[in-house]
Amino acid sequence: MRSTFERDGFVVLREFKAPGEIAALRARAAEIVEAFDPGEAGAIFTTRDESTTKADEYFLSSGDKIRCFFEEEAFDAAGGLRQSKPLSINKIGHALHDLDPVFERFSRDPRLHDLALALGLAQPRVYQSMYIFKQPRIGGEVRWHQDATYFDTDPVSVTTLWFALERADRSNGCLWVQRGGHRTPLRERFSVDARGSRLDVLDHTPWPNEAVAEPVEVEAGTLVVLHGLLPHYSAPNRSAVSRHAYTLHCVDAGARYAPTNWLQRSTAFPARDFV
Ligand code: FE2
Repeated sequence: MRSTFERDGFVVLREFKAPGEIAALRARAAEIVEAFDPGEAGAIFTTRDESTTKADEYFLSSGDKIRCFFEEEAFDAAGGLRQSKPLSINKIGHALHDLDPVFERFSRDPRLHDLALALGLAQPRVYQSMYIFKQPRIGGEVRWHQDATYFDTDPVSVTTLWFALERADRSNGCLWVQRGGHRTPLRERFSVDARGSRLDVLDHTPWPNEAVAEPVEVEAGTLVVLHGLLPHYSAPNRSAVSRHAYTLHCVDAGARYAPTNWLQRSTAFPARDFV
């Protein structure tokens, strides 16, 4: 597995999670959305415009919380929801794995600790969890990016675990990757300081085009592991079915975690291992 990961920058592990575990996670996510009051914030999530202040603040202060974020296309011109609330949420983030018992059970899996070690993370620390809905018809695009843009460590260590909770294929916005693209430079860095957040271009290497991008079409239960430098993307979902996924981002505690990363954990609420 490690040799595949080192060659391709990703690895696909089929039937990693059982249907019962997936059902429990989906049911809990539905409860969280049900309890969410949309008046709570201008909770639109988009990776395309990181500068709008209210949404920015709602996002930037969510690293140690459980918050719901709307799809960018959730609202009509009059500001009303175009679909029901459960069909309008883009994602829930970002500390589900530490704050919610059902998500914690799914995330604290000794097999994930062993997997991280096998991939070279000596001291894995899980900083972020996201439940991604990729809603029918309005599920937004996630533009080409590398996850190390959002988790700067020296050396690069961020590793993404992407669990398919439903079948993901080209019709409903599956992941696309550039096989071997983890050997290309880090193109961007998202950072936060006293002046606010910003996205800096570090390298002008172009993003993959259709000739080299590969869809990762998988069944529910599959775990896809991504190297922090692997370019990946997902298209909008214009189909009638959702594409739920759950992601965990972990780094190696032996690598220096940049103080300018948007997601910081306090000593009172530290990022933990998978076990
Ligand atoms: Fe990503």
